[in-house]
Amino acid sequence: MKSFLLYLSLGALALGSALPDPASNAQVTANAKKHLVFDCSDKQAGDTCQNMCFGAKCQKLGSTFTWDQPSSSTQGKRSRLAGCGSGNRCSKAPYGKGYQCDEYPFKSVKEADKGKQVNRCVKSRYNSRQGNILKQFYYSQGQFKGKGCNRKAPCQFSVSFKQFSNQSYCRKGASCKNDNNEFTKSGPAKREEEVDASGYYRLGSGEIIFAPDGAAVGDVVYQATFTNSNATMSFESSAQGGDDDADDVDDEDDEFEVEEDTIVEEVEDFE
Ligand SMILES: *[C@@H]1O[C@H](CO)[C@@H](O)[C@H](O)[C@H]1NC(C)=O
Ligand SMILES: *[C@@H]1O[C@H](CO)[C@@H](O)[C@H](O)[C@H]1NC(C)=O
Repeated sequence: MKSFLLYLSLGALALGSALPDPASNAQVTANAKKHLVFDCSDKQAGDTCQNMCFGAKCQKLGSTFTWDQPSSSTQGKRSRLAGCGSGNRCSKAPYGKGYQCDEYPFKSVKEADKGKQVNRCVKSRYNSRQGNILKQFYYSQGQFKGKGCNRKAPCQFSVSFKQFSNQSYCRKGASCKNDNNEFTKSGPAKREEEVDASGYYRLGSGEIIFAPDGAAVGDVVYQATFTNSNATMSFESSAQGGDDDADDVDDEDDEFEVEEDTIVEEVEDFE
């Protein structure tokens, strides 16, 4: 905690007048949102980021959610609402073996009850990585020990993204045209007006993240990075393909590290 506060004040120092005084600084800390940052590079969360960014940015589904620790029947209901129930399109050509149906918002969050989720067929490994990060965040397990939701629902958090240069829907000003792998329960997702979310921010580390719902200076971000990224595609052949989705967890969990950082400024002219 101490080092976090030190970090925060260093960030404030670097920004000069961006933060007016220590009192409001404390206020920022008290209200700071928890951001879970997905690394979208090819060897990390991969194109689950396409689905999350398409949902948040192109379908206005938001990026701030409430984990409500749903029962498995509630999760099943949400999956079906998302078009990811059993026998879903990802279990068939041109996908099938090695692919799973990824849904956004996740079946672990209350917002999924509203329906209108988007789904995307993604490589199983990416889907289980995304699910593992969420699960450990909710239960404050492993590297999320002392962070995240601490097993207490309801728990509000926001998702954001980094290293998204290969994930077009996360990029600023990029087209929301459907790449033919964005669906809802009722068929291909219709193109919508792009949300002008000027949500690009710099972290203390210098890295840029995209936060569709915005963020504030001082917000804490948790970044999960898989350490065995070389193994990314090595056992996708073991996946069954099909009715699996975002929050399902693979027993053969990949290991990841969690790094804590804070948002130091908004980046207006980021490309
Ligand atoms: C983007 O794709 C290129 C070409 O496949 C690859 O070399 C590069 O590492 C990728 N970048 C990220 C951030 O994943
Ligand atoms: C991962 O790949 C890099 C470059 O190909 C290599 O230097 C490194 O030793 C590999 N790591 C493991 C754990 O295999």
